[in-house]
Amino acid sequence: MSNKLDFMKESLETLKDIGLDFDIPVMNSGAEAQITVEGKSMLNFASNNYLGLVNHPELKTAAKEAVDQWGVGAGAVRYIAGTLDLHIELEQRLARFKETEAAMYVQTGVVANLTAIAGLMSDEDVIFSDRLNHASIIDAAILSKAKVVVYEHCDMDDLQAKITDHLPHYQRGLIVTDGVFSMDGDIAPLDQICEIAEQYNLLTMVDDSHGDGVLGQGRGIVHHFGLHGKIDIEVGTLSKAFGVIGGVIAGKRLVVDYINAHGRAHSFSTGTTPADTAACLAALDILERSTELVDKLWANTDYFRTGMQDLGFSLGNTQTPITPILLGEVDLARQFAKRMLEEGIFAAAQTFPLVPKGKARIRLINTAAHSREDLDFALSVFEKIGLELGVIRNREQ
Ligand SMILES: Cc1ncc(COP(=O)(O)O)c(C=O)c1O
Repeated sequence: MSNKLDFMKESLETLKDIGLDFDIPVMNSGAEAQITVEGKSMLNFASNNYLGLVNHPELKTAAKEAVDQWGVGAGAVRYIAGTLDLHIELEQRLARFKETEAAMYVQTGVVANLTAIAGLMSDEDVIFSDRLNHASIIDAAILSKAKVVVYEHCDMDDLQAKITDHLPHYQRGLIVTDGVFSMDGDIAPLDQICEIAEQYNLLTMVDDSHGDGVLGQGRGIVHHFGLHGKIDIEVGTLSKAFGVIGGVIAGKRLVVDYINAHGRAHSFSTGTTPADTAACLAALDILERSTELVDKLWANTDYFRTGMQDLGFSLGNTQTPITPILLGEVDLARQFAKRMLEEGIFAAAQTFPLVPKGKARIRLINTAAHSREDLDFALSVFEKIGLELGVIRNREQ
C-alpha cells in the first residue's frame, strides 16, 4: 500500500521541476527603496509600497501610540467585542476619502473580495469576470456558488456578447474587474463597464487594490474616471499604497450594510489590530493633506517608463507604476532575473501560472521612495542585461 502522503511529495517535486517551488526570498529590512535581501544590499523594485509609507514617521508614531493606548490586538471578532472606536473612525474616514456613503474595514484585500462577492451573489446569479482578475476574485466567485462567466481581458464586445448569452438564465448579474491589473499595469475601462452595466441593470464591482493611493490623485479609479455613485462596490487594500494592512469595501450605505450582513469571510475572524488601524488613519491624513507623494510617484513612473521604452524594452500596455518587461519564455525570464539579482536589483520573474504561458516577464514597481539616482542606476543595469541577453539592441547600431 502506498503512503497516503506520497501524492504531496510527487506534486511538490513536479512544481520544483517547473521552477514553481516558491523559493521565497527573506528580507532583512523593511520595504524601502534600498533593502537587504538575504544579507545582500539591493535596490527594491518588487514591493507595492507605492508611496513609501511603510516606513513613514507619522504612521510609525500612530502605530506606537495605539499600542500604548489599546494594546496589541482587538481581542475578538468585530461582532462580539472586537469593534474599537478606531475601526469606526477609519471606516468613516475611508468613506469620506472614497466619496461613498459607507465603508467597511476588513482584515485584508483578499478578505474584502471574499466577503463582498460571496456576500452578494448566490447560486441563482451570474458573475462576469475579466480573464486577468486577481486570484481572490476568482476564489470569491467560486465561494459564492454563482455561475462564473469569464470575458476576455478588457474586451467590452466580448463582455456584452456574454451578458446577452447568459444573463437571461439568472436572477442577478455582477460585472467584476480589477481596477489596475497587477501583472500588466493596465487600467480597466471602468467608464465603459458602467455603461454596459446600466444598459443591462447589472451590479458593478471594482477591485482597486493597485489604484488606491495611485490613480485619481490617490483616491482611486472611480475618482480617475469621475464615476462617483456609479460603481456599486469598491474593494481595495490598505497593504499597498497605504503601506499597512487591511481591506476596504465601500459603496452606498445599503450595499455595505447588505454585504456586512451576508458576507462571512470577515465576520468569523478577529478585527484588525489597533496599531494597523491607527497607521491607516495616519496614511489617510497624509493623503488628504497633500498629493506630494502621489505626484512624486507619477513623476518617477513617467521618467522610468520613458527610460525603459527608449532602451527598447517591450512593456505591454502599462499605464501605471507597474512596469512589466515582457520576455516571453520562462528560461529567458529566469536568466534575466538571476542577472538582475547579481547586479543588485530586486524584482521577481513572473511565470505561469501567475501569467499566461509564453508571457513570462519581470515585473517592476517604482515608488515615490525611489530617487532619480536609484532609477538611473536601474536603467543602466537593465540596459546592460538587456544587451547581454539580446533582449534589446545597442542604440548606436
Ligand atoms: C488586485 C488585488 N486584489 C487583492 C489583493 C490582496 O490584497 P491583500 O494583500 O490586502 O490581501 C491584491 C494583492 O496582491 C491584489 O493585487
